[in-house]
Parts: sequence; structure tokens; C-alpha cells
Amino acid sequence: MFITFEGIDGSGKSTQARLLAEALRGDGRDVVLTREPGGSPGAEEIRRLVLEGDPDRWSAETEILLFTAARRDHLERLIDPALGAGRIVISDRFADSTRMYQGLSRGDLRAVVDKLHALMIGREPDLTFIIDMDPDVGLARARGRNGSEERFEDFGAALQHRMRQGFLDLAREFPGRCRVIDGNRPVETVTAEVAGIARAALG
Ligand code: ADP
Ligand code: TYD
Repeated sequence: MFITFEGIDGSGKSTQARLLAEALRGDGRDVVLTREPGGSPGAEEIRRLVLEGDPDRWSAETEILLFTAARRDHLERLIDPALGAGRIVISDRFADSTRMYQGLSRGDLRAVVDKLHALMIGREPDLTFIIDMDPDVGLARARGRNGSEERFEDFGAALQHRMRQGFLDLAREFPGRCRVIDGNRPVETVTAEVAGIARAALG
């Protein structure tokens, strides 16, 4: 089973991905926890290129290529082998992030994202948690982390608002695998809902 977490910056994806991995490991399941961009040594190198520096460092088109290159490496070296071995893979972001951040943020490039995905990735998650959150609260939380990976946060609040609406639309586009989770609640409350849905899906 391939599970992904999606949503705007600061919505609690990393926190919930980690807590779900812990919960499922507690059930005795074999879980690989990973993230994008990154998750393999080569993809982590690309991560630095895309997440650091000026917002205008890359065009949206160039970003589609960079994020897809990182994803292809992540898929070849970590995701596919782990799923093939019967393990559960939980990823903090995956292809839906490219559909949103590169597909919607600077013009309508969604068709380009989808074509490249079909050509080079071709895998969809079995279950996607979209953590929904007030974009201004999310941005404040993300900025509170104070790291060097702030390129997308520097696009500002307008982008976060567009991305939030985009993720809600995406959940309607892929109702079979997407579950919208209210992230404006205490961490443990969110984890309990997420773990309940994942356990039910795992059977
Ligand atoms: P994301 O991976 O979506 O950017 P994180 O999990 O890194 O989000 O969370 C961003 C910040 O918000 C962190 O400092 C985290 O501790 C905090 N946080 C996460 N979930 C909650 C929550 N439900 N309530 C309050 N703070 C939270
Ligand atoms: P992430 O480390 O998950 O940041 P956060 O914890 O703030 O949500 O992702 C960093 C940024 O990368 C995030 O702003 C979204 C962006 N991103 C894309 O633009 N396209 C992609 O395909 C992926 C995976 C991430």
C-alpha cells in the first residue's frame, strides 16, 4: 500500500506522516517513511536546487522537469523496491504537489504535468490524505520553522490560498483515493482520524 500526505506548507503533513508510520509500526507492520522532493540520495540533491534561493530561480516549466527527475529517482530506488517487497510506503508529498505547485501556480500547466507524469512516473498512491488548513496559519507555522528551504514560502500568501483551493478541487477529482482531513485540530485528534482511515484501508 502506497500512502501519501498532501496539502499546503505548514498544514502538518510531516507531523502526521511520522505519527501514522509510528502507529502502523506499533501494529507490527513494515513501514517505509519518506518524503518529496527527496527520499533518495540523488533526489535529495535536487531538493536543494528547488527549495533554496530566489523564487524566480526557475520557471514553472523547469521545475516540472526537476521535480519529476527527483521523483523518478525516488521511485526507482526506494518506492518501487519497497512496494515490491510488500512494505507500506508513506510519503510526505508526491505527484499531487507537482499538479498543484507547478501545474497551477504560474499559469495553467496541469496538462504538461500530467503528460510527463504518465511518461515518467505512472504510479498513483492507493490512499492520499489532504491535510486542509487555513493558508495564513499554515504559512505562519511554516515560516516559524526558520530553515533555508523557504523558496516556495517566499511566493507568499496568495500562492498558499490558491494551493489550498487546488488541493480541495483535487480531492473531488480523485475521490477514490483522496481523503480531506481538517488540520485545524490538535495533533492527536488528527492522527486518530488518519490512523483509523489507514487501518480500515489496510484491512
Ligand atoms: P508540513 O509538513 O505540512 O509543512 P509540519 O508537520 O512540519 O507541516 O508542521 C508545521 C508546524 O506546525 C510544526 O512546527 C508542527 O509542530 C506544527 N503543527 C503540526 N500539526 C499541528 C497541529 N495539529 N496543531 C498545531 N501545530 C501543529
Ligand atoms: P516540503 O518540504 O513538504 O515543505 P512544507 O513542509 O513547507 O510543506 O516541500 C517543500 C516545497 O516544495 C513546498 O512548498 C511545495 C514544493 N513542492 C513543489 O512545488 N512541487 C513538488 O512536486 C513537491 C514534491 C514539492
